[in-house]
Parts: sequence; C-alpha cells; structure tokens
Amino acid sequence: MNEFFELIEDILFHDEFLKLKDMTHHKGSRYDHLVSVSYHSYKIAKKYNLDYKSVARGALLHDFFLYDWREYKKNNRFNIKNNHGLNHPKVALNNAIKYFDLNDKEKDIIVKHMWPKCIGIPKYKESYLVSFVDKHIATIEFLEEFGMKNKFELVLEDVI
Ligand SMILES: [Fe+2]
Ligand SMILES: [Fe+2]
Repeated sequence: MNEFFELIEDILFHDEFLKLKDMTHHKGSRYDHLVSVSYHSYKIAKKYNLDYKSVARGALLHDFFLYDWREYKKNNRFNIKNNHGLNHPKVALNNAIKYFDLNDKEKDIIVKHMWPKCIGIPKYKESYLVSFVDKHIATIEFLEEFGMKNKFELVLEDVI
C-alpha cells in the first residue's frame, strides 16, 4: 500500500483533483472510483509484471473530468457530437496534461479506457487492463447504487 500511495501521492492531494470528491460518479464520489480503479489495476499490473507505475497513475486520471455526467447527458440527448461516453476520456486527458507530466502509456490508458467505445484501439496491455478493471468496478458501483449489494464483488487480483 505504501508503494501505491507514493506513486500517486502528488495527484491525490492536488487541489484540482480533490474537487472530484464532490462529484458523484456511480455510487460514491468520482475520487473514490478513481482510487479504486487505480489500486486494483496496480495490484494486477504488479502480479503480471506490467508497468504498474503508469497503470496506477493513468488509471487514477482516467475520469478526471469536472462536470456532472448525468446532467451532461440530459442536456445533450439529441446532440450526437456531445456524447459523454466518447468525449470524457479526451476531457480527462486534457485536464491531466494540464496539471501533471504524463508519459505516452499513461495518456493511452486515459484516452482509451472506454474501449471499444473509442476511436482506435489501445496501444498497450496496460491500457486494456485499466479498461477492464474500470468496467468491473463501474458495474459493482452501479449495482450498489441501486441497492443490489452485489454478488459479483470479487477481489480482482485474486481471480485474474
Ligand atoms: Fe470513464
Ligand atoms: Fe471510470
């Protein structure tokens, strides 16, 4: 846990990133969602000798957008260009670049995390990993939001 914390500490306590604590995502805050995806992705990346540093940091920033996605969807229901699913990875990447130094892998992790709902395919194994972990965690959070304390809550790094 200490190593994980050290890898992401500068992001975790950054003023702009802290704003995500006030943003609801699925169940809980977007901040919590990002920490959760980052931590599980990091554990799996370590287990499989992947680039766990880029995974921890890229995953932590994958949903770094500061608007209410439900409102955005409601307001853009008939505007194909403003598709939240397609656009928010780019918004997250722009925010991330603005405040932090990112390598190519971290950028790819962020901008491809909605794969296959994105332009192009992930360039790295690490990008696929974060995309899968994000979907798994989002599903759990979604079920929790609707009071279905899930039966699928598996500790990812123990089963993969
Ligand atoms: Fe996302
Ligand atoms: Fe996400």
